[in-house]
Amino acid sequence: MESWANLDFHLDLSGPGGLRHRLTASLREAVRSARLPPGTRLPASRSLAADLGIARNTVAEAYAELVAEGWLTARQGSGTVVAQRVEPPPPKTRRVIGPAVQFDLSESAPDVTEFPRTEWIRSTRRALTAAPAEAFGPGDPQGRIELRTALAEYLARARGVRADPERIVVCSGFADGIRMFNRLLKPPVVVEEYGLQFHQSLWTATEPLLVDEHGANTEQLPDDRRAVVLTPAHQFPLGGPLHPRRRASAVEWARRVGGVVLEDDYDGEFRYDRQPVGAVQGLDPEHVVYLGTSSKALSPALRIAWMVLPDRFVDPILALKTDREQYISMLDQLTLADFLECGAYDSHVRRMRLEYQRRRDRLVEAVSPYVKVSGIAAGMHAVLETPHDEAIVQMARERGIEVSPLSWFRHEQSDDDRTGIVISFGQPAFPRALPLFTEVLAACC
Ligand SMILES: Cc1ncc(COP(=O)(O)O)c(C=O)c1O
Repeated sequence: MESWANLDFHLDLSGPGGLRHRLTASLREAVRSARLPPGTRLPASRSLAADLGIARNTVAEAYAELVAEGWLTARQGSGTVVAQRVEPPPPKTRRVIGPAVQFDLSESAPDVTEFPRTEWIRSTRRALTAAPAEAFGPGDPQGRIELRTALAEYLARARGVRADPERIVVCSGFADGIRMFNRLLKPPVVVEEYGLQFHQSLWTATEPLLVDEHGANTEQLPDDRRAVVLTPAHQFPLGGPLHPRRRASAVEWARRVGGVVLEDDYDGEFRYDRQPVGAVQGLDPEHVVYLGTSSKALSPALRIAWMVLPDRFVDPILALKTDREQYISMLDQLTLADFLECGAYDSHVRRMRLEYQRRRDRLVEAVSPYVKVSGIAAGMHAVLETPHDEAIVQMARERGIEVSPLSWFRHEQSDDDRTGIVISFGQPAFPRALPLFTEVLAACC
């Protein structure tokens, strides 16, 4: 077992907050970033306290807090040791050698060539002209009130969210928003058995929840857990909506156990067969955190997203947002507020809905002789059910097309054996790649 005693180890205790808080944060960071790898034995609290010139109790309390959070383990006889983490699956590796990726259809992403530049410039001009002098000051970690007000109106109208500007916090993408919750929610956190690898990597431990044709099986949420991350409008990546009974049971569970549902509404506006179903948050705003993003409707490069929080989370989240670096540019926020208010956001979403619907129809028509397309008509990606996933990924690669095997999205503790291909039809390359990809299917299936 590696022991810290043999290592020259730097702990940064500068920054805001009390000494115990700073020590805990510094140790947590060292474990999370693997500067202290799993299995490393930490010095006894007495000797670390002597090294740092601080009270032994301060060290003991910091250790106890990190044990409670699951970062460290304390065992009689073997001291305090960095916990064995459930490592997230390795990141998707891009091919290093071989033909270049000409058509990248592996990420569920919008067609960024359609970014509404003219309308965005108009909104920027109006926002900049109307911005009060105070807007050029240090800024509000919660986000500009103009944007929070515009979002509250939009989310209530378009997504059935019960939103009050005081409960909205603007963040730098969904990723930034949910990352803050890894400081507030104790692991293990329940996640859908298929999903973003990113969700799994946020907590020291996550547990998979089965997903079937009715979405995640929220009736099986364990009473000894307190948090679940769901994609109710359009399960990512399998593509089903959460059944109304399951929506209700997620909320009933959260009420019963005093827990919280983290609702990832990443592409909720993009439903093509009928009106989008409203957010689960509308059922119980005190037990659901709603997370929305501009990444699908506009561009993932804007890095603007929003959380609508239960009252009890507003202050703790704002306390985590004290660093200036976590603010979104004031000008982008005011521009988006104007863009929402003048109706440009709605028009753009409506126009893109038609475009994505057309593309999905073309995909279904082209591939249906070979594979079944699962999931509802929604979003910017689809799952093709096939046992020939590996052969398809390989041959597509040889033709310069990158698609993802469904297994990339599977939780490592899930024993589900579905196989398939996740393909994005949002990407600008999709129309040109489709005939080539269809040839690959014809050869493999
Ligand atoms: C399931 C899911 N949630 C959320 C997001 C949005 O993330 P962000 O707002 O950080 O760009 C994505 C983007 O790809 C996604 O696929």
